[in-house]
Amino acid sequence: MKYCDIHTHLLPCMDDGSKSVQESIALINRLKVYGVDAIAFTPHYYSNQESVESFIARRDKAATDSIHQFPKDVVYTLGAEVFVTDLLFSADDISQLCYSNTNYMLTELSYDISVKRACDLVERLRCNYGVVPVIAHVERYPEVLSLKGVSALVNAGALIQTNIDSLCCGYFQRKKMIKILDSGLISFLGTDTHSLKKRCPDFAECSRKIINYCGKDFYGNCMQMAQRLFVNEVDIL
Ligand SMILES: [Fe+2]
Repeated sequence: MKYCDIHTHLLPCMDDGSKSVQESIALINRLKVYGVDAIAFTPHYYSNQESVESFIARRDKAATDSIHQFPKDVVYTLGAEVFVTDLLFSADDISQLCYSNTNYMLTELSYDISVKRACDLVERLRCNYGVVPVIAHVERYPEVLSLKGVSALVNAGALIQTNIDSLCCGYFQRKKMIKILDSGLISFLGTDTHSLKKRCPDFAECSRKIINYCGKDFYGNCMQMAQRLFVNEVDIL
């Protein structure tokens, strides 16, 4: 494995991502052109809409029905992008929402969340369930997006993911992001691919920007971390 995408919405008919097996295959082939050879399926999970059990049954059926039709030269794994609210903590067991055979869970927070509230949720996930949250697209949380805010999340026990197109933005946002990317606080990159029309980043152009601004080492480290997630290393740090 060289290029692993740990954040996608490519399981057909699971969420606002791919709507058919054909669309998923087209998107996977597009990622393959850029060298992606391992993909995690991380459909949205909202605890206010569905029980964990019902979601897992739906996700596993979508995987069983579709993966055998997908390109064979790509490694696939299952996960979820879990929107964390207080309601999630009423579930007895959330282990199946983690990336397969790991205790790492892609975690989405409310966009207006404060640093204090985000850290509180991270600590509860760790203490109540032994789950290590991977905070999805950290660039989307304005209150958290500073060296101090992201450091607080990491100190609370989270790992941080940024979307590969997070530097394709205006000057001031990019400057802020580069500072955070350079700080070593980001562990993962993901495309967050939804469909051919929605959030389908130009992987080559985005990678080039990241390597240009942050260096090959940063990019290589993120890919190494993702590889370790795919081979189910218990402690990837
Ligand atoms: Fe996503």
